[in-house]
Amino acid sequence: MRIDILNGPNLNLLGTREPEIYGSMTLAEIAEMVKEHAGESHQIIFEQTNSEGTLVDLIQRAGREADGLILNAASYTHTSIAVHDALKAVAVPKVEVHLSNPLAREEFRHHSYVSPVVNVVIAGAGPEGYRLAVTALINMTGS
Ligand code: DQA
Repeated sequence: MRIDILNGPNLNLLGTREPEIYGSMTLAEIAEMVKEHAGESHQIIFEQTNSEGTLVDLIQRAGREADGLILNAASYTHTSIAVHDALKAVAVPKVEVHLSNPLAREEFRHHSYVSPVVNVVIAGAGPEGYRLAVTALINMTGS
C-alpha cells in the first residue's frame, strides 16, 4: 500500500516554529517516525510545500498513484477552496491531520475547507497524529 503524506506551508519550520504549540520534533523526524511505524509492507511518500499550487498538484498525484492520502494543509486548511476541490476530485481514503487542535485556538482556525471532504480528522495529538492517521488508513483499506 502506498500512502502519500502531504504537508503545507511553514511545516518545514517544525522544531523551531512556535515549539510551545507544535512541539520540538522536526518534519524530517516525524517522517522517519511514521516510516518506521508503517513498516516495510507500506510505502510512505512524505512531502512538504509552501505553495498552494504545488499542494494541489501533489493531491492530484496522490489520487492517481497512491492508495491513501494524509494531509496537513496547515494554514491552507482555513483558506483554500483549491485544496478543497482537489480533495473532492480524489477517490482514495483521506485523513486530515493537525499537530495542534485548531478548534481550541484563534477563531480564524475554526473553519476547515478540508474536513468536509476527508474520511477522518485527527487534531491535537502532536506528531502522534501522523501515526494514528497511517493506522486509520491501513484499517480503512484493510491492507
Ligand atoms: C496546523 C494548524 C493550522 O491552523 C496552522 O496554520 C498550521 C499548522 C497544525 O498542524 O496544527 O500551520 O495545521
